[in-house]
Amino acid sequence: MKVLVVGGGGREHALCWAIAASPLVTKLWCAPGNAGIAQEAECVPIAADDIDGIMEFCADSRVEYVVVGPEAPLCAGLVDRLAAAGVKAFGPSAAAARLEGSKGFMKDFCARHGIPTAAYGRFTDIAAAKAFIAAHGAPIVVKADGLAAGKGVIIAESVDQANAAVDDMLAAGRFGAAGAEVVIEEFLDGEEASFFALADGETALPLVSAQDHKRVGDGDTGPNTGGMGAYSPAPIVTPAMVDDVMARIVRPTVAGMKAEGAPYKGVLYAGLMIGKAGPKLLEYNVRFGDPECQVLMPRLMSDVLPALIACTDGVLGSLDLRWMEGAALTVVMAANGYPGEYEKGSEIRGLMAAGRVAGVTVFHAGTAPGENGAVLAAGGRVLGVTALGADVAEAQKRAYEAVDRIDWPGGFCRRDIGWRAVE
Ligand code: AMP
Ligand code: GLY
Repeated sequence: MKVLVVGGGGREHALCWAIAASPLVTKLWCAPGNAGIAQEAECVPIAADDIDGIMEFCADSRVEYVVVGPEAPLCAGLVDRLAAAGVKAFGPSAAAARLEGSKGFMKDFCARHGIPTAAYGRFTDIAAAKAFIAAHGAPIVVKADGLAAGKGVIIAESVDQANAAVDDMLAAGRFGAAGAEVVIEEFLDGEEASFFALADGETALPLVSAQDHKRVGDGDTGPNTGGMGAYSPAPIVTPAMVDDVMARIVRPTVAGMKAEGAPYKGVLYAGLMIGKAGPKLLEYNVRFGDPECQVLMPRLMSDVLPALIACTDGVLGSLDLRWMEGAALTVVMAANGYPGEYEKGSEIRGLMAAGRVAGVTVFHAGTAPGENGAVLAAGGRVLGVTALGADVAEAQKRAYEAVDRIDWPGGFCRRDIGWRAVE
């Protein structure tokens, strides 16, 4: 089977690494890929959101299956376009991708189907938004409705800060069309976890649990990022918790989307806040998490490709996935300055030595090939140094041993990934 993976980050490297191991694959491309992905797949210089370019490539190269990594092409309808052209693809339709693409849609959907989530209001009017904030007080959360690359959520500690976020989005147009409407919601307390399930429009199958670290600094301090590291399993997601989340959140979502005429196919990523009253849904993502995918794929012992195709074909019910016992942990190495301004183009050395640590795979998130086989930093998050181990503590030890073999003065990482599970 000729397969194309769309995207060029650490998540897509992990997907390509897993898909390349499938005996079903005769040819693997990645658009646009990166320097690490090039070891697994032929990289083609087409941007992940260049829908026309991807359509043209699929026709020219007779691609038989497309795996879409990021949310932007999903929300833009890539899977619908491919289906209309007779090309099978992994991921939801644009209508189903609204679960991530519009926070207002997601909140109303949860209300319609009784799915536990924070209390909220939707606003396009500044005065009405501020009246809601005044009535509820702080802390309170202000979110841009549309896709904002993870930057559209403001956790306001004070009413003034919340009002400023409203001005920023509704008056100053900080996120453009994505911020023309805001969702304002109750602040939820608890521990976060990332919950993943495959879905085929009708049936849902939970994957192993994971947790990421969103803040840039040790001890979960500093600004939010796309994710500075992840580990799996997350101890807070017990078997009873999995049953609870499937029963109260994931299955009602899949049933609700089907009933509303937008059946959900692909991977459903529920961002959970687990508090005293049990799990509540913070947000839905319609794709694998990044860096969570980098800890899920190494733990998956079954062939990933038939699992993805089962979602597309609506035959997930017959699938049984095997997972490695033990744990996986990813330490993200980012360019100095991230998540603010950062430099590109610095050389990264020691990758081979890092990859020789037992159980370690170094996934590339933002790299580009340089002269004479050099690897250059080309993004904010640059590497995902991933290790398997008997438990999170061993995976953590191995991952940092590998990190310490990487010679890259232009980058940094957190030194405490996995602390909750190791303590
Ligand atoms: P989201 O993009 O919706 O996942 O939001 C990004 C991050 O903001 C989440 O991972 C949480 O850490 C935090 N967050 C979002 N909504 C809430 C909420 N209602 N209460 C507390 N924290 C939240
Ligand atoms: N790791 C968070 C995300 O993928 O959205």
